[in-house]
Amino acid sequence: MKDFEYLGQNDIYFDAACQSLRPQPVIDALTDYYTKFNSCGERVKYKWGVTTDDKVNATRKKLLDLLKLKSKDYFVSFTLNTTYGINLILSQITIDKIEQVITTDIEHNSPFLATIAFSDKHHILRKVISRKKDGSIDVNATDWTNSIVVVNAVSNIDGRKLQNLKELVKKIHKNNGVIIIDAAQAMAHSYEILEKTEADVICLSAHKMYSPSLGAMVVRKSLLPKIKTTFIGGGMVDDVDLSEYKLSAKNSHHVYTKFESGLQAWGEIVAFGEAIDWLKAQNRVCLESHSKQIFKFLRDEPKVHMVNCEVSPVISFYVDGVDSHLLGAALSQEGIMIRSGYFCCHYYLDHVKHYPPLVRLSLGLHNRQSDVERFIKVMKRVLEIN
Ligand SMILES: Cc1ncc(COP(=O)(O)O)c(C=O)c1O
Repeated sequence: MKDFEYLGQNDIYFDAACQSLRPQPVIDALTDYYTKFNSCGERVKYKWGVTTDDKVNATRKKLLDLLKLKSKDYFVSFTLNTTYGINLILSQITIDKIEQVITTDIEHNSPFLATIAFSDKHHILRKVISRKKDGSIDVNATDWTNSIVVVNAVSNIDGRKLQNLKELVKKIHKNNGVIIIDAAQAMAHSYEILEKTEADVICLSAHKMYSPSLGAMVVRKSLLPKIKTTFIGGGMVDDVDLSEYKLSAKNSHHVYTKFESGLQAWGEIVAFGEAIDWLKAQNRVCLESHSKQIFKFLRDEPKVHMVNCEVSPVISFYVDGVDSHLLGAALSQEGIMIRSGYFCCHYYLDHVKHYPPLVRLSLGLHNRQSDVERFIKVMKRVLEIN
């Protein structure tokens, strides 16, 4: 496919849920930063620094625009990844009126473990509620009073979506709560679910949305009074006295510095802007068709046990009598790159569902029709032999 011409014909990459491949224009944008205006943002007045500042600010705006959010209500801070964003917020939020932390059974370890640590640290109740088969949450089955809720918008197991995200956000706010969305999987192929959201924080990993490795948090400004900055250093202050400092975040133009301590990954941020433009310009017809073909093929094979109830670019399954790790190794011999195991969702997959280790395919915009056909051909052979 155009923009992934570097990919060999026999390299079939089905691990986009971990990291998407980077399209050539994104790689070029990163190279441009290093070769044309390599400079620090936020501090530098010479012309390379001005270019960096312009492009970094453009990336912040592009992310808000992608989610149809207004800069009067939200701002963007850059982080390492989704995990870092979730932990950063949870470590700095004041919990005056918070009585409980709530998450769900199908979460990635990233929010799952962070909520355990949060409940241990503050000695408050932690609830793990079940998601429905379609990914939604029964908002009337839980007492949400004074809670911090951390949930994904799209699962990395089977791509199921938090269909009633807007209803959930309203319910939590009505009960004096805070909601943090893990958008790690949503952003590459389902970001529409977050458009015009009123969630308090959206944490994401740019490396899952065709960008170099980077994280971002989209933060609702109304949350700021609840944040006590304790992770602090260069790039965050307007003035420093012997034992006092004045945070730049108080200045509305630099509100994002609240979560950006020290020098940032400027080149990656610049290239993330290019990735957002690229992602917006793609249509997902081929991705949907590829996902559908693989889902149907697997679903109709008697020896295959699907985790997915529905088509998604993220598909998990196991095969009767075949070790998933060995299957992964066999597919790898054919150039087909998939994941095997529990994909950092040990609690749900192992302890709730008691599945054996699984195989996961996660498709991206780089995949070709020939990838799908090769996978089906190779899998048919595997299923015949076993
Ligand atoms: C749903 C979900 N949440 C969180 C994460 C953690 O992302 P990262 O490792 O980039 O922080 C992942 C990674 O696969 C994920 O799929």
